[in-house]
Order: sequence, then C-alpha cells, then structure tokens
Amino acid sequence: MKLSLILAALATSASSLKTVTFKDATGNNVSYVEKPTFDQKKVDAYVLQTEQIVNSTHMDKCGKCLTAIALGKQAALNGDVQLIPAVLTKLCKMYKFSKTCDTDYGAETTGYDTDGTHAAQTLTLIGDPYGTDGQYLCYYKVNQACPLPELPKFDLKALGWWGDKPDNVTVPKSENKTFNVAHLSDLHIDLRYEMGAEANCTEGGKMCCTPDQFNKGARAAGLQEAVVPAQKYGMYTCDVPPPMIDLTLQTVGQFAKEKEFEFAIFTGDMVSHDVASQTNLANTALSEEAIYHAFKKYMGDVPVFMTYGNHDTFPYGQLAQHKSGYGGYFVWNDQLSAQLWKDYGWIDAEAEQQAIHTYGSFATTTKRGLRVISLDSNLWYKKNFYNFWNTSTDPDPSGLFRFLSDELLECEKTGQRAWLMAHIPPGGNMDNSLAHSTEIIRQIVSRFSNTIAGLFFGHVHEDQFNVWYAGNGSTNTVDNALQIAFLGPSVTPLTYYNPAWRYYEVDTKTFEVMNSHTYYAKLNESFAFDFEHPVEKTIGNFSYLGYPQITNISSEDVNGTAPVYHYEYNAREAYDPDHEWPANAPLNATFWHKAVDYIVNRNETRDLFLKYEYRQSPYVPKCADDNCLANVYCFLSSGTVPQVEECQKNHKGFKKQIYIKRDGTYGDEPEHHHH
Ligand SMILES: *[C@@H]1O[C@H](CO)[C@@H](O)[C@H](O)[C@H]1NC(C)=O
Ligand SMILES: *[C@@H]1O[C@H](CO)[C@@H](O)[C@H](O)[C@H]1NC(C)=O
Ligand SMILES: *[C@@H]1O[C@H](CO)[C@@H](O)[C@H](O)[C@H]1NC(C)=O
Ligand SMILES: *[C@@H]1O[C@H](CO)[C@@H](O)[C@H](O)[C@H]1NC(C)=O
Ligand SMILES: *[C@@H]1O[C@H](CO)[C@@H](O)[C@H](O)[C@H]1NC(C)=O
Ligand SMILES: *[C@@H]1O[C@H](CO)[C@@H](O)[C@H](O)[C@H]1NC(C)=O
Ligand SMILES: *[C@@H]1O[C@H](CO)[C@@H](O)[C@H](O)[C@H]1NC(C)=O
Ligand SMILES: *[C@@H]1O[C@H](CO)[C@@H](O)[C@H](O)[C@H]1NC(C)=O
Ligand SMILES: *[C@@H]1O[C@H](CO)[C@@H](O)[C@H](O)[C@H]1NC(C)=O
Ligand SMILES: *[C@@H]1O[C@H](CO)[C@@H](O)[C@H](O)[C@H]1NC(C)=O
Ligand SMILES: *[C@@H]1O[C@H](CO)[C@@H](O)[C@H](O)[C@H]1NC(C)=O
Ligand SMILES: *[C@@H]1O[C@H](CO)[C@@H](O)[C@H](O)[C@H]1NC(C)=O
Repeated sequence: MKLSLILAALATSASSLKTVTFKDATGNNVSYVEKPTFDQKKVDAYVLQTEQIVNSTHMDKCGKCLTAIALGKQAALNGDVQLIPAVLTKLCKMYKFSKTCDTDYGAETTGYDTDGTHAAQTLTLIGDPYGTDGQYLCYYKVNQACPLPELPKFDLKALGWWGDKPDNVTVPKSENKTFNVAHLSDLHIDLRYEMGAEANCTEGGKMCCTPDQFNKGARAAGLQEAVVPAQKYGMYTCDVPPPMIDLTLQTVGQFAKEKEFEFAIFTGDMVSHDVASQTNLANTALSEEAIYHAFKKYMGDVPVFMTYGNHDTFPYGQLAQHKSGYGGYFVWNDQLSAQLWKDYGWIDAEAEQQAIHTYGSFATTTKRGLRVISLDSNLWYKKNFYNFWNTSTDPDPSGLFRFLSDELLECEKTGQRAWLMAHIPPGGNMDNSLAHSTEIIRQIVSRFSNTIAGLFFGHVHEDQFNVWYAGNGSTNTVDNALQIAFLGPSVTPLTYYNPAWRYYEVDTKTFEVMNSHTYYAKLNESFAFDFEHPVEKTIGNFSYLGYPQITNISSEDVNGTAPVYHYEYNAREAYDPDHEWPANAPLNATFWHKAVDYIVNRNETRDLFLKYEYRQSPYVPKCADDNCLANVYCFLSSGTVPQVEECQKNHKGFKKQIYIKRDGTYGDEPEHHHH
C-alpha cells in the first residue's frame, strides 16, 4: 500500500477531528489528526486522586503503584481513555518523571512519538490490577515499584500446543557441502542526517548529526559551529546516513554475486533512534521503504527475509494484538511491508497474507527446503504497553507463539529443518525482553530443538551470541548446551562500533552454520579530517577538541574517502584457538559453549571477542574486572531473562577470574583443556 493511502486511511478513521499538516524530513507534506481537548476538570480530578495515593502513608511504593493502576483501569473503563494521556502528562510534569512529558505521555498523533494513548488503552485490557498485570507494569514501567512477580506457569503441552516429542525425529545427514547466507542487522537509516551537523551533541534525548542538536557547553560559550562536524558516511555517535546505507548494500550485493548468497536475513531496525519529537509515522514508513528499496536494488534476485525491530513500528515499540481490539492502528505497517516483500519476490502470496495477519511475521521455505520463520519481537518487548494484559491467564495474546509452535510442529512431522529470526534476543545483555515471554519461547525452542537448526537476532548492535542450555537453562554444562543464537553486528555505528555485517556458510542438508565470516568498515578512515589529531580549541570558558568545519558541501575535500568493508574474522578460527573442533562439525551450541569458556578464561580470546564485539573501532573496551567478566559470562550463556538474572545473582562479588568447570560450576583454578 502506498504511504499516502495509509495516511489518508488513518486520517479518515478520525475524520471528525482536526487535521494538522507538516513537512517531514524529505519535504513531503504529511497530515495528522489532533485529538480534541479534554474535560480539564475530570483530568484535574484524576490527578488529585493520584496525588492522594502518592501521598498516602499506609502503602509502600508497590501498593501505591498498584492502586494508581487500579484507578487508571477504572477511569479507562469509565470511558475516559481519551483523557488518560492528559492525566499522565500532568503527573509526569508534577513528579518530573521525564523532561519530555508531552512526547512521552501525550495523546496519540502521527506527528511525533508518544505512548499516552497506548498506555491508556492497555488499562482497558488488564485483568486484576493488583495481580501480575499490575505488578509487571509497576516493575517494568514504573521504575521497579513492585518486585518482578513469580513467572506465571503455563504448560503449553497441557494446553494442547503439542504432544510428546516424537522419537522418530531424524536429523538430516550432512553431505559436507555448504552454501552462503548473508546476515545484516540494525541498519537504522537516518533520513535527517546532515553533513556538518553536531556529532558531539550533549542534550537529553539527543540524536547527534541531525539539525537542531548541539553541544551545550559550546553553545553556551557562543560557538556557532559544530564541535565535531558529522561526516558523509557516518559518525560513531550517530545513525546511518543514506550514502552509507547505499555503500553497504552495494557491497553486500557484490558479495552476493561472488559468494552466491542464496538468501539474506535482516534482523530488524531500519528506522533511526531519532528523538520522539522528530519521530513520526511518515518517517517510519519512509525509512522502511528506503531500506526495502535499497536491498532490492543491490541484492537483485536474492531473497531477503525481513523482520521489524522495535524502531520499525509507530509509535516506537508499540504494537497491539488483534485480540486486544486495538490492532487496526498498526496494520498499515504489515500492509505496506508484506506487499513490498512480495512485489520484490522475497516471499510468495501465501506468506504475504500470513505477514499481514501475523504482525509482519511469516514462514517461508527456501529453494533448498529450509523453513525460515520470521517473528515480530515487539510482542515480547518490554517497552510495548500491549504486552502487559492477561499476563497470567494467557500465554499468547497475539497468537505469535502459537504460530511459531504450529510451524515447528509441521516441520517436525515432515522432518523439515527451521531457522528462527527476530530482532530482540530473549536472553543476553539488553534486558529488553519480558521475562514471562522468554519463558514461553524457551519451552518452544526446547520442545523443537531437533527441528531448529539456527536462531538469529540483532538489536544489541554488538557482535555477540547466546548459548541456550537444555532444561530451564540453569545447568551450563557442555553436555547441556542446546542451541546457539547468533546476534548479528549492526551496520549502525551507534554507539562507538564500526559498521559490520556477515555471511554464514550453511550445511546444505542440516542447515546448521558451519562458519561465519564477518566484514567491517573502518569508519574513522572515511573521515575528511584526521580523527586522531583534533586541534585543541577554546572559546570563552569552553575548551574542546575541534575538527575542520564543512562549509561548502560541494567542495572537493569535504567528503572524505568512501569506506571499504574489510574481512574481519571467521568464528571457527577465532573461537577454537587450539584447533580442536573437527572440520566437519558445525558451529553448534557445543562449539559456542567452549567459546564462552575460552573468552572467560583466556585473555587472548577475550581480547579478540571484545575487539570483534566493537569491530576494532577506536573504542574497544577492556574487560578485566570480575564484574565485567561475570556479565560477559552471563550474557553469553543465557537464552531467557530469568536465566540472565539468576546467573548474575550467582556471580555477584566473586573475586577471581571465573573458571567454568566441565560440570558447570565455577572454580578458582582452570581445568585443563583437552589439547
Ligand atoms: C505542502 O503544503 C504547502 C502549504 O500547506 C504547499 O504550499 C506546498 O505546495 C505543499 N507541498 C507539496 C509537495 O505538496
Ligand atoms: C501531597 O504532598 C505534597 C508534598 O507534601 C503536597 O504539596 C500536596 O499538596 C499533597 N497533595 C495532596 C492531594 O494531598
Ligand atoms: C483475559 O483473560 C480472561 C481469562 O482467560 C478472559 O476471560 C478475558 O476475556 C481476557 N481479556 C481479554 C481482554 O481478552
Ligand atoms: C563428511 O565428512 C565426515 C568426516 O570427515 C565423513 O565421516 C562423512 O562420511 C562425510 N560425508 C559425506 C557424505 O561425504
Ligand atoms: C560558561 O559561560 C557561559 C556564558 O558565557 C555560562 O552560561 C556557562 O554557565 C559557563 N559555563 C561554565 C562551566 O562555567
Ligand atoms: C514420525 O511418526 C509419526 C507417527 O507415526 C508420523 O506421523 C511422522 O510423519 C513421523 N515423522 C517422520 C519425520 O518420519
Ligand atoms: C565533546 O564535547 C565535550 C564537552 O561536551 C568536550 O569536552 C570534548 O572535547 C568534545 N569532544 C571532541 C572530540 O571534540
Ligand atoms: C559530497 O557528498 C555529497 C552528499 O552525498 C554530495 O552532494 C556532493 O556532491 C559531494 N561532493 C563532492 C565534491 O563530490
Ligand atoms: C555439535 O556437534 C558435535 C560434533 O558433530 C556433536 O558432538 C555435538 O553433540 C553437537 N552439539 C549439539 C548441541 O548438537
Ligand atoms: C590475563 O589477565 C589477568 C587479569 O587481568 C592478568 O593477571 C594476567 O597477567 C593476564 N595474562 C596474560 C597472559 O596476559
Ligand atoms: C582508526 O581506528 C583504529 C582503531 O583505533 C586505529 O588503529 C586507526 O589508526 C585509526 N585510523 C585513523 C585514520 O584514525
Ligand atoms: C532451574 O531449576 C532449578 C531447580 O529447580 C532452580 O534451582 C533454578 O532456579 C531454575 N532456574 C531458572 C532460571 O529458572
């Protein structure tokens, strides 16, 4: 569907309301609908009641939070959904939750990013506000006002999702042949990127390298120019300008020919991290279109399987389940995307229909017979308000998890192997997934571990991986290693990475990854200035390291050098330092379990990991202290939120390097590796 039609449809759905027109970043006129003004008296009354709750002396902060949510639910059910955003905005200003209350809690508009209406609509859906719905909201959305409740227990097998694991699931036999698949992640195109804009911006909610961002100290001292002027191909503090998107996909397109990529996966986040006031529906849709278009332009006939990230929805991170009754607002995205994916020949008409009805999620079979299942992870993202209702009574309000398990059940019946791809990893270091949802995913992955040949995510921007262990994941032994999740490095340098992407060598029969090859661009070498030698400057009371300004965009010397993607490393070599892993064995969970062991226990391997994690940017961190090591260990060894949290609890305050023993316990001395 064309963008203009989508906007028209959204406008007519609320035609009695006032329409406001503005210009987006690319100069298009965009309209949005402004909500009517509210009954201010009622707003004030709700604010007063909330104040009384906050001031009460007979409740702890959890009790206050739950009581306020109960009040909100009552208001929502009384037909006051429309004025809840005004209540939240006022409370936000009163209690200073944020400096950007209007954009955080305001009523829905297509003109900028705000969640107020979606928070209010969620209140109409929640069950007992004092039960897990309220407790989860208070934990995740109100600064951990309540502790995380015990996970609801769902036995998906007992609920009829599947029967026993059959004993005739045969794993296909390798013929020792491979084919290649590209993996890109987190492209984050910034259509508002401006060469010469401030790349060292300092203000809250900043998105450097865009107009109207500035360095506060410099501005206060009267400096008119940028402290660090944004360069043509990107900066370490910014999202990706269109020329770098172009160059990256052009490069991948060339490799696609050379290495005969049979398909590519893109694990989400097309849209920039722009500030809420500059994030709008039109920019979201335009960014997505630009990314789809660039893939098609450079990848030709190579199918690209897409998934949305948390930035690829509007408002940011929000997505309502169909069953909630509020799903209609978000369907524009699936209509726009699924149709383009089909028009570009990436999915067929059946998968297109599937994607329209399953939040852009779909399953498709590649020409070699691999089932690729692409899932919209906003349905387990903790910033999505719509993930907070019926948390203890319904394991799957969106139907997404049942869609996944049904797909896997079908694959299991025919002995077909499957890959799962999504944006947000359920485990690992971002703590962005909802604990109870990751438990559902764990049950599915565990049940279908013989069918799943690979898990692929993005979101963390760092080049990482997560080892998943069998059972509840607490026994981190080599024999218990079950699955490996590959977390693709980002193309965006935000924050402090070199842009990167990779391709996998994949077994033609088992569809397991046999090796991964990562490419990176040295962003600092594309700059028109000498990054390592800024000039010390002072203006008024402000001293800074300055770089030459961009005064004339068409002068010869402003564009620097187009970056080149260099070969960085292959995982088989990097993480098997003693060359013990058999050449014909896949890089499966066992391989990666051992890799974690090396990373934690060997300085050389750890340094490699850190170097690759940041793709050798000027900002590669050190990880020498025990806390850092424990975190690295926990992040790399978990597939769910409860697992990460348990691991971190168990490793708090230890004093030495941790040595992972073969039985999964930790000791002060290394065990000998078998050489
Ligand atoms: C956008 O709107 C303005 C006034 O509202 C009008 O002058 C201008 O021609 C429009 N531009 C386009 C591209 O439609
Ligand atoms: C709540 O307490 C604050 C600070 O003590 C006070 O200013 C405010 O008037 C009180 N509000 C109500 C409704 O009691
Ligand atoms: C929430 O779950 C309960 C119990 O399963 C069900 O009765 C209710 O309809 C659900 N709420 C919504 C909004 O679907
Ligand atoms: C693949 O390689 C393994 C190990 O070298 C060997 O045992 C197996 O027979 C080979 N399979 C085929 C189909 O060549
Ligand atoms: C620097 O000077 C400006 C005005 O010239 C002032 O606003 C600012 O607070 C000063 N900053 C510091 C750190 O003294
Ligand atoms: C396993 O056995 C079940 C029941 O006999 C059958 O339906 C299924 O097709 C078999 N699966 C495979 C991969 O042979
Ligand atoms: C960035 O700005 C800070 C002050 O906000 C300044 O101290 C620093 O030197 C600047 N960095 C560079 C590389 O110019
Ligand atoms: C530098 O790059 C900009 C943006 O891509 C382009 O408009 C300009 O023509 C280029 N300048 C030169 C001298 O190539
Ligand atoms: C990984 O591959 C090795 C070698 O083929 C095998 O011994 C091991 O069991 C596999 N691990 C998993 C988790 O499948
Ligand atoms: C490894 O790191 C530890 C702790 O930082 C240090 O004591 C040790 O000397 C390092 N070993 C090597 C070989 O660099
Ligand atoms: C770019 O950064 C790398 C890593 O810090 C450094 O080795 C290299 O010299 C830098 N190149 C330039 C041109 O600044
Ligand atoms: C896994 O189960 C064990 C034994 O019941 C328990 O001690 C542990 O806390 C559980 N771990 C998680 C992450 O749920």
